[in-house]
Amino acid sequence: MQIGRKIGIFDSGLGGIFIANAIRKILPQYDYLFLGDTLHLPYGRRSTENIYDLSEKAMRYMFDQGCELIIMACNTASATALRKLQQDFLVKEFPHKRILGVIVPTLEVAIEHGATRIGLLATQRTVHSSIYELELKKINPNVILFAVASPLLVPLIEYAGEKYLDMVLQDYLQPLQDEKVQSLILGCTHYVSIKDRINNLTGGNIDLLSQDDIIPTKLANYLQRHPEMEKRLSRGSSFIITATDLNEGFKNNIAQLMNRNMPYSILSN
Ligand code: DGL
Repeated sequence: MQIGRKIGIFDSGLGGIFIANAIRKILPQYDYLFLGDTLHLPYGRRSTENIYDLSEKAMRYMFDQGCELIIMACNTASATALRKLQQDFLVKEFPHKRILGVIVPTLEVAIEHGATRIGLLATQRTVHSSIYELELKKINPNVILFAVASPLLVPLIEYAGEKYLDMVLQDYLQPLQDEKVQSLILGCTHYVSIKDRINNLTGGNIDLLSQDDIIPTKLANYLQRHPEMEKRLSRGSSFIITATDLNEGFKNNIAQLMNRNMPYSILSN
């Protein structure tokens, strides 16, 4: 692969493509590399140690492929591995590169929207890490967060189980509706694809915070505040997609998700 100075976008699977597409819409000039760890999906039921090891391997691969900055789009990896990667791995091995997570930027927007009771739908690992509560306390301790682990959603989304989604979703959403949350964080990249469904099920009464609406602007702000990083990035408008297991299902899903005027290439590794 030609080595450009790219922005990397990492996810355990397909969901990160929604974030990548949204980022490219507002920042089309840069070169991007997307990596989905399809071989090890879902991350949501893995141990913290295992997610750390997988994430470190993914970061190393992406840096070796010329990424200067990586968006860790995967909430589960952001929740469990990001801090150690930033404080230990980056400092020791890639001191001039950066890895940015998605949790704090999402909470900042949730607070800006003014809710005092916020719901969170996320994987088991993200919910059990309590990272959203811990970070929220630092930003605004008066806001209450109600978290629901929703382990069935990722497999249903990845493996064409749409027809079962409403039933499962109703079950996950009920406790959040009972708690009268005003905003709901869709705390997993995959949930971007079901936000309309969630909106229908909640009667449009809950403000949905979806990371494809949040991360692109946050990245643009970051690049404005960090011209030293922005200047390092190459501008070829390319988008390379790769996965640890480039299986047919993944390739078919990608073909459906990419719109025609957003050219991309698939890298076999
Ligand atoms: N896409 C990941 C996230 O944002 C979770 C999917 C998985 O369980 O691998 O949390």
